[in-house]
Amino acid sequence: MLSAPMQQQVNIGLIGGGTVGGGVYKALQANGALMASRLGIKISVTKVVVREIKKSRPVHIPAALLTTDFHALIHDPEIHIIVELIGGTTTARSVVEAALKAGKPVVTANKALISKHGETLFALAKANKTNLYYEASVAGGIPIIKVLRESLIGNRVVRLYGIVNGTCNYILTRMKAEGAEFMDVLADAQRLGYAEAEPSLDVDGHDAAHKTGILASLAHGFWINPQDIYVEGIRHIGKLDIQFATQLGYTIKLLGIVKCLPSLKKSKGPRQAIQVSVYPALLPKDHVMANVSGVYNAVLVRGDIVGDTLYYGRGAGQDATASSVLSDLADAALDLKCSSRDRVPAFVDHEKNGKVLSTGELVTRYYLRLGVSDRPGTLASIATILARLNIGISSVIQPEGHEGATVPLILMIHDASNASMQKALKQIEKLPVVKGAPVLIRVEDFE
Ligand code: NAP
Ligand code: HSE
Repeated sequence: MLSAPMQQQVNIGLIGGGTVGGGVYKALQANGALMASRLGIKISVTKVVVREIKKSRPVHIPAALLTTDFHALIHDPEIHIIVELIGGTTTARSVVEAALKAGKPVVTANKALISKHGETLFALAKANKTNLYYEASVAGGIPIIKVLRESLIGNRVVRLYGIVNGTCNYILTRMKAEGAEFMDVLADAQRLGYAEAEPSLDVDGHDAAHKTGILASLAHGFWINPQDIYVEGIRHIGKLDIQFATQLGYTIKLLGIVKCLPSLKKSKGPRQAIQVSVYPALLPKDHVMANVSGVYNAVLVRGDIVGDTLYYGRGAGQDATASSVLSDLADAALDLKCSSRDRVPAFVDHEKNGKVLSTGELVTRYYLRLGVSDRPGTLASIATILARLNIGISSVIQPEGHEGATVPLILMIHDASNASMQKALKQIEKLPVVKGAPVLIRVEDFE
């Protein structure tokens, strides 16, 4: 508990002064007084930890605040809240663990850390009678963690669909609008501060999986092991797929999907089965989620009582992310003021029978693009393989070509399990008429 004279001022130690850390410093300069008047507490930045003090920074942070020694901040009794904004899961983990062990509330934007070590860190926070806040870890400026932990507490979440990676959404949007090349757009996303230090986390779907796992855990009350999440990124999506999807009335988006499925009857009682996956999907072009563009994110949450609710906003970048960090800082400061650090615990593990559906069990519709020789019997040989596995075709497109030339063949496929579809693909790939690697993209109808 803060001593009486301190109740009007909370001092924070920022560990990380890069894109997000710089944004938090800048936002507190701009709106700190407003927050103080709303909260009755002044939030003051005491120190900022960086790797290189002399580095030039887009956001000016006074040299007197900069240090490289995070241990000193954690153990400084004048610093009440630690904000971890360095990223990664090694030093960041040490920082967060040390701060929690010192009994300090911690705010982080680090989804990789929460996804991988969340359970341990939440337990550490509880054991040390403090709290861990992570609003900025999912969907940038959208307050979705608060929504799931507090606002929708009276609902069972039956569906959750998220466009939760700003970098991928920015890339797919520009590929569609401008026919831009993947690598050129990725470079722009990096320049704009959207991409992770290691951008394969973005484009290979892992960042979206970290976030989707966090949302699924909160929505369903058991911590999701990231290894149980089915993950596909967007590297295999070509300009041709974007064009054909458009022609078919769809838009391609990278989606995080959490579906609550009927309970599985097991000898030890029913188990709550959920699908937790991340993959690019064709969305009907008029659906609201198909129209979330650029760096914007959106999360659609369907509750059993409330129905569909939608949360939309900038999903990455300095200012949007800083806004979520400020929200956590306000909660942590109020907790200190009211001596109620566990009023809203970081995570409550309340579903003892939760289970994540295995990859093979996922059932969806599909778009399949093949390069094939334009000759009689090609379509029949592919259709025969699909039919043998009980997989139905709903439509076919083959642009007119020259007999014998390689042409794209697009098949829209009815609901099929991932296991059956993978079996079919293995056989189709081996057909002499099929040239190059097939491109398989799921279709999502939001049912
Ligand atoms: P960033 O621009 O690379 O900034 C990292 C900061 O941490 C820099 O100030 C760096 O110091 C400092 N740092 C790194 N390793 C350090 C170490 N070992 N010791 C001391 N300081 C260290 O990264 P960012 O984009 O701000 O991301 C920070 C976190 O926010 C990550 O977890 C990221 O996933 C998350 N996040 C980012 C966004 C976004 O849009 N960028 C959005 C949501 C969440 P120097 O400045 O001296 O290099
Ligand atoms: N790299 C992340 C993204 C940052 O593009 O969404 C926000 O978490």
